[in-house]
Amino acid sequence: MIATPCYLPDSRDETVTEKVGTMRHIYLDYNASTPIDRAVADAMKPFLEDQFGNPSSGHWAAALAKTAVETARAQVAALLGCQDDEVVFTSGGSEANNLALKGVYFAHREKGNHIITTHIEHPSIVEPCRFLERLGRRITFLPVDGTGRIDPDDLLNAITPRTILISVMHANNEVGTIEPVEECARIAREHGVLFHTDAAQSIGKIPTDVNQLGIDLLSIAGHKVYGPKGIGALYIRRGLDIEQLVHGGGQERGRRAGTESALLATGLGKACELACDLGSMDRVRALRDHFWQAMREQFGDRVVLNGHPVHRLPNTLHVSFIGWSGSEILERLEGVAATTGSACHSGHIELSPVLKAMGSAPEIGMGAVRFSLGRWTTREEIQLVIERLSKTICRVGKAAKSKECHKHPS
Ligand SMILES: Cc1ncc(COP(=O)(O)O)c(C=O)c1O
Repeated sequence: MIATPCYLPDSRDETVTEKVGTMRHIYLDYNASTPIDRAVADAMKPFLEDQFGNPSSGHWAAALAKTAVETARAQVAALLGCQDDEVVFTSGGSEANNLALKGVYFAHREKGNHIITTHIEHPSIVEPCRFLERLGRRITFLPVDGTGRIDPDDLLNAITPRTILISVMHANNEVGTIEPVEECARIAREHGVLFHTDAAQSIGKIPTDVNQLGIDLLSIAGHKVYGPKGIGALYIRRGLDIEQLVHGGGQERGRRAGTESALLATGLGKACELACDLGSMDRVRALRDHFWQAMREQFGDRVVLNGHPVHRLPNTLHVSFIGWSGSEILERLEGVAATTGSACHSGHIELSPVLKAMGSAPEIGMGAVRFSLGRWTTREEIQLVIERLSKTICRVGKAAKSKECHKHPS
C-alpha cells in the first residue's frame, strides 16, 4: 500500500495523514522531507501562473519577479540573522554544501590544503571531501561519541597551520544529535580557520542565528522546512572570498550563475518567515517525549534511544528495538512513513555510517528506526503508531528469531 501524499495543511490542527480504505497513513518522516505549508504554496502561486518574467530583465515583466527574489532573500536573512547580501540561493542543501567546501577550497588553496569535518556528515559533505581528497587535499574526519557528538578537543588537536576550513553539521539528520557548533566555531576563529555548518536539519527547529553561532558559512534546504524542493541557500559571511561552482551569468552577485527562480525563492522565503517562530517546536518536543515515554512503557528495556538524550532536535526520535530488524518492523508497520538505520544484505547487517561512527553494536543498530515528527503530527497519530508497533513487534519478533540477520557481520 503506497501513501499518496497530496496534503497542503492549512493550519496546525490538520494532520498530515491519508485515509486509504480503513488504514490511516501517518507521516513520521519530517527529517526526510516536509510537506509544503499552505501559506508557502499560496505565496508561490502567482509565479506558477502569470508572473513569468526573468528577475534579471530590466522591463515591466520582470519587476515583480525581481522584487520577489529580493524579498525572499531578506526573509532567509531574517531567519539566519544576517544581511541580505550574505545569502546565495542554490538548488538545495547539497549544492549549498558543495559550494561551501569546493568554493572555499578553490578560493583559499594557496593558504592550505587541509579540511576538517566529522564522520557523521550528510553525503553532500562527505562526497565533496572525498573529491577534494582525490585532488590531493588532506581531510580529517573527526570521531563522535556514542551519542553522536564530537569532542571540541579533538577538533583543537586536528587543526594544523595548513587547515583552511572546518565543517561540522549543526544537527544530525538521522539521530538528531546537536553538535557543539558554537564552541567549534570559536576554536576555528581563534586559529584563523573558516567555519561552515550544515543547518539543513536544524533550521525551523532550533535557533540558527549565524552571529550567535559565530560561523562563516551555513547551508539550508527548502524542503526540510515546509518549503519546496529544488531550492536552498548558503550564507556566506560578508567579505569572504568564495569560488563559484556554476559559471555563467553574473546572478547572485557572481557567486552562482543561472536565472533565479522567483517561484522557488518565494517558497523558501515564506518558509523561512514561518520558521522564525519556533513556538510550535515546544508542542512537537512534548509529543516526541510522550511518544518515547509510551514506547518505554510498552516495550521496557527492549527499546533504546539513539542519539543524545538532551542535545537533540526536538522532533527526532531515533530508537532501536533490540533483537528485531528495523526494516522488517517498518515493512510491517502498515501506513506509517518512517526510516530505518540499517539494511540486511545476504544475512549481514549494514549499519548506516552514522550508527557505525557512533559505535552502535549490530544487534542494536539493526533494530534502528527513525521517527521524525513535524508541525502537524497529532497525539492521536502517535497513539495509533504505538498500537501498531505493539502488534507489529509481536509478529516480527517471532519471525525474526529464525533469521540470519541476527548474526554479526563476519
Ligand atoms: C543534514 C542534511 N544536509 C544536506 C541535505 C541535502 O539537502 P537537499 O536534499 O536539499 O540537497 C540533507 C537532506 O537530506 C540533510 O539532511
